[in-house]
Amino acid sequence: MPLTAPTDLIALPAHSDARGMLVAIEGTIDVPFSIARVYYILGTERAKRGFHAHRELQQLLISVKGSCRVIVDNGRERREHLLSQPDQGLRISPMHWLEMCDFSKDCALLVLASAHYDEADYICDYPAFVAEAQAQPAS
Ligand code: TYD
Repeated sequence: MPLTAPTDLIALPAHSDARGMLVAIEGTIDVPFSIARVYYILGTERAKRGFHAHRELQQLLISVKGSCRVIVDNGRERREHLLSQPDQGLRISPMHWLEMCDFSKDCALLVLASAHYDEADYICDYPAFVAEAQAQPAS
């Protein structure tokens, strides 16, 4: 599977039968990075999350239950995605501003990350992010 675009939707291997669905994700095979950290977000109805970018971190967002809207901004353009399929992941590359909103009441958002938690990797100021992103070659 080509995994070249910096931010894209990735089809995850789902095994469905009469018992339900099982989705298995292997680091460096189904996602283009080794998985160092997993976190998940629940109970976010009516709240917005994110509003930051990472300098190095790569992430894959999967709505394993329910749905949410994800806005990804590379400092030049913003793209909006509705995540609602447990067998679909949204890849977030470094230097992409991320906002999450419109969570359904039952939404469970699973995030696979390429590195351990590191506060120093965050850019939380939007104008500073845009300036830094626009100083880099377009991806
Ligand atoms: P925060 O970055 O505000 O979440 P979001 O990106 O959804 O807006 O994180 C909420 C809290 O959780 C904050 O105190 C930092 C902590 N946290 C960790 O300890 N480890 C992690 O891997 C993450 C993502 C957050």
